[in-house]
Amino acid sequence: MIIDIVGAGALGLLFGGKLLMAGNQVRFWTRTTAQADLLSHDGVTILERDVEIHILPDQILAKPISDLADTWKKTPGDWLLLMVKQTGIDDFIHEISPLQDYMLSIACFQNGMGHLEKLQAAMPKALLCSAITTEGAKRTQLEVTRAGAGETRLGRYNIAASISIEEKKTFTLAGLLQQAGFDCTVSNEIDKLIYRKLLINAVINPLTALWRIPNGELFITEERKRLMRQLYDEVLLVYSERGICLDQDMWDQLISVCRSTATNTSSMLADVLAGRGTEVGSINGHIVRMARKLGLVVPTHEILLHLIEGMQPEGVN
Ligand code: PAF
Repeated sequence: MIIDIVGAGALGLLFGGKLLMAGNQVRFWTRTTAQADLLSHDGVTILERDVEIHILPDQILAKPISDLADTWKKTPGDWLLLMVKQTGIDDFIHEISPLQDYMLSIACFQNGMGHLEKLQAAMPKALLCSAITTEGAKRTQLEVTRAGAGETRLGRYNIAASISIEEKKTFTLAGLLQQAGFDCTVSNEIDKLIYRKLLINAVINPLTALWRIPNGELFITEERKRLMRQLYDEVLLVYSERGICLDQDMWDQLISVCRSTATNTSSMLADVLAGRGTEVGSINGHIVRMARKLGLVVPTHEILLHLIEGMQPEGVN
């Protein structure tokens, strides 16, 4: 199978590297030529538990994203794993616009919401699927360290292709990821998983980004916990008005995500520290927009949205 990995950050390299080692042909697509050259020149090492997987330079095919459309027209891929952040979606859409009449199969690994609608509008014939993953990885220049084994759930998004083709293809991707060493299944509850993840990100990410703390330090004082709870309650209000039901013990699940990722720098904090734009608009911004449509107010999300947006990127620098 030919798998295109768009975005060679920690998760992209982890998934791509392991799919490559499982015998697939993997093409990495990076934002710049320099990033592609670095990968093709130095290779990458994946560290998990006590195993080291060395992917040698001559095993790696890495190119800048601007070459994707032409390459794909000549040699189509079977699956494209979209592993850029929400903030990279518009650039991705721009780069693949020459492929808008092709039937690409795209698995979307983003936090937050809004990207699937955008992609569907730009690529009406593409088969889109959502991938919700609890896999985590850290990257230093040439090494990627897997943060323990997570779970990945795939779910169909669109109705462009016939249901049976979509279903078959999604199961094929789940099978490939399993062979590569990931706990991956197709879920028929993907919407619930997406809203669960949105809630978790809407509480953990902006607070860790503002306070500049790892996830595990969120719930250690009453003040911090109170604000977490306020954000949580506002989301549940919106969800209940929209008829979205999560598990009864969702608060405990949220705290347990903070515990299990205690030493993590959340993705939003990482963006703030690096002076990059954040995904706050697709996370807390999405909650604010959902609330407005329902005639509700979510003041804590609104203020955090503005606080984080005010830090971006020129504010940080
Ligand atoms: O965005 C993130 O960092 C992650 O989704 C999570 C779950 C908050 C853990 O850091």
